[in-house]
Amino acid sequence: MKTVVVPPNKGFIAQAGKLIKAGELVAFPTETVYGLGADALDAAAVEKIFQAKGRPGDNPLIVHIHAMSQLTELTAGELPAVARDLAAAYWPGPLTMVLEKSGNLPAIVSAGLGTVGIRMPSHEVARALLRAAGVPIAAPSANLSGRPSPTSAQHVLLDMDGRIPMILDGGECEVGLESTVVDVTRYPPRVLRPGGVTPQMIARVAGEVEIDAHVLSPLHDGDLAASPGMKHRHYAPAGELTLVTGSPKATARRIAELYDEAEAGGKTACILTLAQREKLFGWRQTHALGEDERQAAKGLFAALRQMDELGVDVILAEGFQADGLGLALMNRLLRAASFRIIDAGD
Ligand code: TXA
Ligand code: MG
Repeated sequence: MKTVVVPPNKGFIAQAGKLIKAGELVAFPTETVYGLGADALDAAAVEKIFQAKGRPGDNPLIVHIHAMSQLTELTAGELPAVARDLAAAYWPGPLTMVLEKSGNLPAIVSAGLGTVGIRMPSHEVARALLRAAGVPIAAPSANLSGRPSPTSAQHVLLDMDGRIPMILDGGECEVGLESTVVDVTRYPPRVLRPGGVTPQMIARVAGEVEIDAHVLSPLHDGDLAASPGMKHRHYAPAGELTLVTGSPKATARRIAELYDEAEAGGKTACILTLAQREKLFGWRQTHALGEDERQAAKGLFAALRQMDELGVDVILAEGFQADGLGLALMNRLLRAASFRIIDAGD
């Protein structure tokens, strides 16, 4: 199959909508990452998503909508008050809510679970596509399973070339990390995957919030995954990533040591850090993730892909405070590091 990358003008959005309605896949930009979309009500179309990504069948998809009226067809029972309040506050935006699933939705979308994750994206191209297709769109991130999520059309093409007919190119994604996933079938609502809508922002609306234990720790055999996606290998660059935390000074010192050890062993290394800290590492190879957490979130996945392109063997990443957007950064970095984390102390 030939994959075309097209600008998101009226004509191509209309074509993309037709492809979705005809049971085909289209990759499209959202404010978080690029999605790989199919008609959520068409089981055969959704099956194609799992095939194109090489995604395990037990990992449920997020269903995207552009209007609140679409919720009734997708969910069962009364919408919880907390869900209504969170939607009013943060939709459209980088928030996915887990709700009771309606029988209309094919089981494959939610991997057989009784719940479904639903999100209303704010990106104009995503919204235009949803309107053109006229159906809810099931879409995971548009990467091959296990790879970092794509934040540009180029990333999507690298993973999906020949597997899907069309990629709508909407430029770089603004948030850069996938949406916050929050379970609102229970109170207090529970964050299953942290993202651009922080726990503090949820608590402000819901009164309280819980954070799932697996956000910052690995799943062990026998653990039940509240968010099945968290148990799969994720974001993994080819090189070995180690996450280093501790005081700013101790962290820099420990990273420099690890870097020098790697080089002495004949390996190439690179340090992921904030721009203003690059100078601490002298002559060593660094990659700036921007100047603050927002910029780091936006650039993290591109940086991980770049480490692969540069053929870096040993990637040394500085940790973030696991708070606010930092919680989302640590959640992704820990998985990219397969939970290899070193505390450099004070
Ligand atoms: O920002 C995003 O959320 C992007 C864009 C395209 O919208 N999508 C995305 O999808 O990141 P994906 O499939 O890569 O991640 C979906 C996550 C997984 O961790 C999955 O386990 C969780 O959401 N999830 C989906 N439905 C769920 C459900 N019913 N219960 C618990 N977790 C669910
Ligand atoms: Mg994904």
